[in-house]
Amino acid sequence: MKILRFKKLDSTNNYAKKLALNGEKENTVIVADTQTAGRGRLGRTFLSKRGGLYFSVILRPDIKPEDTVFLTVAAAVAAARAIEQVSAQKCDVKWVNDIYINNKKVCGILTEGSFNAQNQLDFAILGVGINVFAPKGGFPADLHLAGCIFNKKLPFLAKSITRKVLNKFLSEFYDIYDNFNDKSFIKEYASRSFLTDKEIIYTKDGLSYRARVIGIDDNANLVVESNGKTERLSHGEIQITGMEQLPI
Ligand code: BTN
Repeated sequence: MKILRFKKLDSTNNYAKKLALNGEKENTVIVADTQTAGRGRLGRTFLSKRGGLYFSVILRPDIKPEDTVFLTVAAAVAAARAIEQVSAQKCDVKWVNDIYINNKKVCGILTEGSFNAQNQLDFAILGVGINVFAPKGGFPADLHLAGCIFNKKLPFLAKSITRKVLNKFLSEFYDIYDNFNDKSFIKEYASRSFLTDKEIIYTKDGLSYRARVIGIDDNANLVVESNGKTERLSHGEIQITGMEQLPI
């Protein structure tokens, strides 16, 4: 595994993508202390000040295009395990790509795939942002749901703790990735689901529906019950009733 470290990048996903397009081998990891244009899902920005861990992994898995989502699922399980090992705090997964501690989002994952003309996955960039420490001055007021793993500033230990989180993540992720096709990690993902039994609002084809989350199935779909009917959501936007859905 090759790890390339930078003080500042626009986005580690952008950098990793450029390398991958130039033929960079799989398993190269790009890490940055800060990002000036960190990206989240659905075109959102991801606040990437000092104190966090921002990295992307170039992957070239031999998987079906529709299985790309399971890379995010695997990464969510690896991030939850890694953060728990370093901080001894319980991590929950919010479908699809967020990790929460005590109702605060501490980690987001953005997986981007590049497909060839035959619609086969050429490479995937797995981007992970972890709020290890809070940014100087705290999180901006509009990011009500943002949290960090450690609330105390630990100036002398910050670097080594952040590296430990990265190393644990990589070791947990590759443990899962080595047996990716057996999809056994989905069970753990489901058991960590923060949404199970919660009332949510989901949006489908431009319409919003109220529903209750039953759980997550073996394909990592969110299973919900709405007006007596069971629905399986494979992607999309959900809002937890009574809790603001905010970009972080
Ligand atoms: C989300 O919360 O919607 C996903 C956030 C993903 C952020 C990470 S930080 C490292 C990598 N580079 C980016 O620009 N984004 C991802």
